[in-house]
Amino acid sequence: MIRHSPWDTPPYDFAIGLRPIGEDEWLEGGDAEAARKLALYDGGEPVFGELEGSREAQEEVRVLVEKATGQAADPTLPPLFAASLLCADDLCLMEKVDGEWRLTAVSLCSGTFFTAADSLGLSLKDLHGPVPGFEERFLTVVERMFNAVRPDVIMQRRNWTVLNSDELYLPRSGPVRERIAAIDPKDAGDALFVRVERQTIRKLPETGAVLFTIRIWRHPLSALRDDPHRLSAFAAAWRGVTPDFQAYKGLARYGSLVEAFLACS
Ligand code: HEM
Repeated sequence: MIRHSPWDTPPYDFAIGLRPIGEDEWLEGGDAEAARKLALYDGGEPVFGELEGSREAQEEVRVLVEKATGQAADPTLPPLFAASLLCADDLCLMEKVDGEWRLTAVSLCSGTFFTAADSLGLSLKDLHGPVPGFEERFLTVVERMFNAVRPDVIMQRRNWTVLNSDELYLPRSGPVRERIAAIDPKDAGDALFVRVERQTIRKLPETGAVLFTIRIWRHPLSALRDDPHRLSAFAAAWRGVTPDFQAYKGLARYGSLVEAFLACS
């Protein structure tokens, strides 16, 4: 079953798209991810990073996640990474340092073409450097929201893309993209995946840090056939995305494959 289908409604463009959710909707449960995440960490992959001084807020995250999952985190690991082993989500801790919101600790085991090492320490502006128009259109609103959001309000946003991989840990685009040419158009429904990021934001009451969570959901395009409305909404979004959105996500690479899938659906 497809849980999130953010392509269902226009605009087919970058958007802030935040909506409040209840505490009971915060982490969406699902697969136990601890073994996969630990194997990446122990294997030396760049899945965790922390700045000095972030432990107090990391501890606050650990307590919140323990409460939400009803499980105890491993006390021998850094608290944010230990908390991330209890849930399927990636955990990004943002703190205000010298007047700017920065990523001060991060556990990122399902990153889509970026890693904890790439992003640790960056400001909201620099994290979004590659996103067309982010600074002009969104930065001020997002910074104000991080300043003002109350600890009892949890917000959710979602985005989507199409990729020829359903792996969760995708640190780099190159190895994925070089496999596109080998896909037979008649297999596109099973070789391509719609990849949804479901993100949440919540302010931590003690330290005033912001916790940003990222959960990846992915489905083969063929799963869209289960619901004709969802399939036609996807076709409308696919054909309606703005040029900036299409270029940023590299969607043109899949153009003929997705059209072949839609033509036989
Ligand atoms: C309300 C808060 C935020 C908003 C509205 C937002 C918005 C966006 C948008 C519009 C994109 C382009 C892809 C998409 O459509 O989602 C994006 C990408 C991204 N965001 Fe955010 N974002 C927020 C918070 C954060 C935070 C806290 C982090 C910290 C890790 C972050 C890290 C990134 C990264 C790494 C990318 C990919 C940039 C790249 O292509 O290299 N975002 N964000």
